[in-house]
Amino acid sequence: MRKQVKTGIVGLDEMLSGGLLEGSTTLVKGAPGTGNTTLGMQFLHSGITDEDERGLLVSFEEFPFSLHRDALSLGWDLRKLEKEERLRLIFTSPRIFLASLQSPESPLNLTIQEWDIRRLVLDSISHFTRMTRDPKELRQIYNRVINGLKREGITSILTSEDSGTGLSTEEKGRLSFIVDNIILTRYVEIDSSMQRALLVLKTRGSDHAKEIRRFKLREGGIVVGTKFEGREALLSGSPRAIAPGR
Ligand SMILES: Nc1ncnc2c1ncn2[C@@H]1O[C@H](COP(=O)(O)OP(=O)(O)OP(=O)(O)O)[C@@H](O)[C@H]1O
Ligand SMILES: [Mg+2]
Repeated sequence: MRKQVKTGIVGLDEMLSGGLLEGSTTLVKGAPGTGNTTLGMQFLHSGITDEDERGLLVSFEEFPFSLHRDALSLGWDLRKLEKEERLRLIFTSPRIFLASLQSPESPLNLTIQEWDIRRLVLDSISHFTRMTRDPKELRQIYNRVINGLKREGITSILTSEDSGTGLSTEEKGRLSFIVDNIILTRYVEIDSSMQRALLVLKTRGSDHAKEIRRFKLREGGIVVGTKFEGREALLSGSPRAIAPGR
């Protein structure tokens, strides 16, 4: 049986029946600000501190200072982990990342080999849509990225921006079909307040919980709470209380 890799987020690992399968690729898809980068950082941070596994974060969007600052507000000192050579942050472009992944002698591949990288976060995969308008070519790009990571046996999290409406550009490359697992994050409006919701939409090779659960962001990261009871159409953007007697 393949080893399970814990995300380090207790409730999420429960929902995933123990964790992510080693070497699998997980898409974390959500509206801006819901906590996608945080989920990825927590996965890396937990790998480093709980499992003594080095982590690699590849960012196409945030500047180093803002990533360090955001992480610090969650209680994670990334600079310290980088100094201790347990974490590597790479700020690059999708094009350079893809070329590096495909050339064995690139600094990226050397880091992966020499550091024995087991966990990687790509923030965000949505940026690859800038490389082409052709859905077929986009699918090939996704396949190259994902196969490159799988070849190294890396368990990866790919974040993705998702407005929740219509067919997103990246879906034209059928990303959801290529990845092994999908986790959705959403804002839901309940009784005039915005709450964060989390759902495991698919896992390949293992079972997963089907319910939608609340989660919060606080110092220490994501805390998964209870499921939404007595509500329906949560992901539609206009949830309703379930009428009594139903
Ligand atoms: N210490 C903290 N306590 C509570 N909430 C926090 C804390 N630090 C950050 N947040 C919240 O985390 C959210 C941003 O998280 P994150 O950057 O992971 O989201 P994201 O989905 O990656 O967003 P983006 O669309 O900007 O990439 C913000 O809404 C912010 O309010
Ligand atoms: Mg982000």
